[in-house]
Amino acid sequence: MSERLVIAADHGGVELKKELVEGLKDLKLGVDDLGTYTPEACDYPDFAHQVAKGILAGKYDRGILICGTGVGMAITANRYRGIRAVNCSDPFSARYSRQHNNANVLTLGGRVVGFGLAWEIVNVWLSTAFSGDARHIRRVGKIEIA
Ligand code: RB5
Repeated sequence: MSERLVIAADHGGVELKKELVEGLKDLKLGVDDLGTYTPEACDYPDFAHQVAKGILAGKYDRGILICGTGVGMAITANRYRGIRAVNCSDPFSARYSRQHNNANVLTLGGRVVGFGLAWEIVNVWLSTAFSGDARHIRRVGKIEIA
């Protein structure tokens, strides 16, 4: 079964989200788009909470969150135990966030990266698996605090 993906953005990421959703659909990768759908100003935490809760509830495997910088989305999503959100502006970090950190949320800055770079980051992030090496399992296990 293919992975269940979810994507959401605030007004700072809505344009990039639209382009990414179209690209993912072209690749026949299904993605649930939780909004926002207009350029009207809205609050990024509302979307990060929805995506984090959906992943923790088992509705989705991984998520992509986009705001102006990707920062607010990452801060909010990382408040949840079991969410490992990474804000990436380069494919190298995206690759290792999967291989080493088993990141389950990717955040992007719609005002930081253009579509071409974002698309490369998303493709690398989606196609890279967690290495499963014992040392990385141990380190990821040490992330959560009581
Ligand atoms: C909205 O102006 C902006 O603050 C938001 O998109 C995001 O960059 C926050 O981290």
